[in-house]
Amino acid sequence: MKVTFGPVLKKTKIDKLLETLEHLGIKCSNIYIDENEYIDKYDILLSPGVKVSKVNRALIDIGLAMRAQATPIGYPIMKDGVYRIEILKKELESRVFSDLYKKRDDLYAPITLGIDSNGHKFVVDLQTLPNLLVGGIPGSGKSVLLHSIILSLIGIDAKLFLVDPKMVEFNMYDEISCIETIENTVEGVHQIISDVTEIMDSRFERLSSSKCRNALEYNHNRKVKMSPVVIVIDEWADIVLQDKTIQRSLCVVAQKGRAAGISIVMATQRPSVSVISGLIKANFSGRIAMRVASRIDSRIILDDSGAENITDVAMGLYSDHKTNGLRLFRAPFIEDPSDEFDLVVTPRSKTFWEKMWE
Ligand SMILES: Nc1ncnc2c1ncn2[C@@H]1O[C@H](COP(=O)(O)OP(=O)(O)OP(=O)(O)O)[C@@H](O)[C@H]1O
Ligand SMILES: [Mg+2]
Repeated sequence: MKVTFGPVLKKTKIDKLLETLEHLGIKCSNIYIDENEYIDKYDILLSPGVKVSKVNRALIDIGLAMRAQATPIGYPIMKDGVYRIEILKKELESRVFSDLYKKRDDLYAPITLGIDSNGHKFVVDLQTLPNLLVGGIPGSGKSVLLHSIILSLIGIDAKLFLVDPKMVEFNMYDEISCIETIENTVEGVHQIISDVTEIMDSRFERLSSSKCRNALEYNHNRKVKMSPVVIVIDEWADIVLQDKTIQRSLCVVAQKGRAAGISIVMATQRPSVSVISGLIKANFSGRIAMRVASRIDSRIILDDSGAENITDVAMGLYSDHKTNGLRLFRAPFIEDPSDEFDLVVTPRSKTFWEKMWE
């Protein structure tokens, strides 16, 4: 068996994993390791004929043998032809939003997702996705993650349309000037879609008359810029199960919105195919799975297994179909979003605000 390892210290870990895999009847030809303070990532070149499903089933045993802090996360990386196992050595500690929030002027729509498994601040430009789907069981930390996203977007004065079917999650944002509306009903969502479509159409006219391909190009060297416009939906299942037709009109916005700086972020505790349909998946390339009930649920959200092994609140796996594999992270802790307003709300007069973004 050929083994690749760097410094001597790493050898023992790889030997231990090799031994464990051998005991479990999993043959492999090569193992690469990448490690940091929190996590060891092993990329395993499985021998021909070894099924990924067999390794998936062995993750708990591997975690036990390797003395992991939690069940290891394992998933195949098709492009590289390897199976990756991430073993947490030290718990990714829960950090408060104000610790992790970072103003990023270089990004169009930066959103703070928390801390990644390298211990770094995890910030993503929503514009590049441009739509994000979050799934996880009740209590897995979806709403807190949405608060982190909303607060990040308030920090750049994005135009926000919030949907809160539970009617209790988003009330504190009522007074914030860049929140356009907070809706709780299906009719409210129809209204949001029609308002955002109007913004989108008028932006397309302006983009075309100024010969710009998208909002980023348009904003370049312009005083009055096109702001990010984001629809945030807390429980998508509550909306779509009442009115299936809403899916098609929302997906039109999801599909066409990118050039005009428009994004959608939605969360659901029911990752079933009737809630996360093929149409939704085709239009939401950003995916986050928090703790889920089964491997099937993880597949529905991420197109990959892995999230079924998350055991901790606020831990998530992120995928954007661009970066290789999945990224394990922990969302920030936010006790009360209004405590963070001082940090994110930029004190500006209304006229200044109107001049900044149209
Ligand atoms: N980063 C964190 N660290 C520690 N605890 C957290 C963190 N994020 C959330 N929590 C706790 O987890 C609990 C559930 O979070 P949240 O309400 O966001 O879950 P949810 O997935 O939205 O649940 P539901 O589907 O029922 O709405 C909350 O009590 C919250 O305090
Ligand atoms: Mg919630």
